[in-house]
Amino acid sequence: MRDAKQIDSLWLGADIVTLRDGRYNIITDGALAVDNGVLIWVGARSELPAFAPRQRHTFSGGIITPGLVDCHTHLLFAGDRSAEFEQRLNGASYAEIAAQGGGILATVRATRSASQEALVASARGRLAHLLAEGVTTVEIKSGYGLDEESELKMLRAIRQLAAGVPADVIATCLAAHAIPPAFHANPQGWIDIICQRLLPRVKEEGLADAVDAFCEHLALSPAQVSAVFDAARALDLPVKLHAEQLSAQGGAALAARYGALSADHLEYASEEDVRAMAEHGTVAVLLPGAFYLLRETQRPPVALFRRYGVPMALASDANPGTSPALSLRLMMNMGCTLFGMTPEEALAGVTLWGAKALGLQQTHGSLEAGKVASFVHWPLTRPGELAYWLGGELPCRVIYRGEAQ
Ligand code: NIG
Ligand code: FE
Repeated sequence: MRDAKQIDSLWLGADIVTLRDGRYNIITDGALAVDNGVLIWVGARSELPAFAPRQRHTFSGGIITPGLVDCHTHLLFAGDRSAEFEQRLNGASYAEIAAQGGGILATVRATRSASQEALVASARGRLAHLLAEGVTTVEIKSGYGLDEESELKMLRAIRQLAAGVPADVIATCLAAHAIPPAFHANPQGWIDIICQRLLPRVKEEGLADAVDAFCEHLALSPAQVSAVFDAARALDLPVKLHAEQLSAQGGAALAARYGALSADHLEYASEEDVRAMAEHGTVAVLLPGAFYLLRETQRPPVALFRRYGVPMALASDANPGTSPALSLRLMMNMGCTLFGMTPEEALAGVTLWGAKALGLQQTHGSLEAGKVASFVHWPLTRPGELAYWLGGELPCRVIYRGEAQ
């Protein structure tokens, strides 16, 4: 074939759900041309330019979506909190368990005494479940160390894990997850350590891509969050916030004013919060796994997010306390059944808007020329089925940066 451009691979034989602009935007009988791990052409097979692919893959039907993005997880931890699930079903609340030294602090104790290697190994096992279901980009937070060295250990473990998995891993420093017990009489002492010592080290060693905090009556106050965000801003690290999960604190609006990538949870977000998020381009990350497991009844204001044009992402919040969730497809289903999202919004929430919540929307989250060639072939006829099936396995085929897994 003279004049045909040599490329690594061509993928044919399926409908392509591009998620361009956060809509399905389906290309019937599409083609994806890949070179060097990047999409160089996406369109209808009938309009395919002359390519000379080194490999040609032809599916017999099905759909192709972007690789899924899980933009909020606490996958790296040690210990087991299944007993707290039982305690809660016997009447104890999340806040009561936390006040008794359980909750986040129980995982902190276990994580502090685990080696970096052990943390990597257990997280790899959990991550495997997400990857098997089409996740090709995942965010993982620290926040169960809560002392300087243990937070650094967690972040190094996340970087180590990232080096050996077929996924893009974003590391977030969540040292501001709670006030550690040693600082209960002097919470500012922990904030000072985060701002003056930890974040500069994290920045210098390149250990985190963003900084997160938990703004809640049982965690950090808005003033404490502001101090952490000021330090992050001075170091040029993007911020995001666990906000309005259990009560209204104005954290989402505060985060938006700092230009946060995302505000996450948001069950108790007000119209004021939503307006601020719209104004500053902050993504609403909804976490139905935590809502479900805590048997919360206050739903995030989906209608307001729509009305103000705030993009909604969906994530697993995979963590040992409030969301032991290892399936992003299940989160899509819950986003629809519990929060009233449409299946199209749910899919956009785990692709384009998940990518935006990580600051990656220029390169990830939709199937367009110039973006990474991470995509998933599903044996389905309609994309709405992704949010429809409950449990079970869909035998999907994952392509990560141009390589079939
Ligand atoms: O996202 N909200 C705060 N952090 C986690 C829960 C952490 C835990 O209980 O271990 C969350 O739900
Ligand atoms: Fe979380």
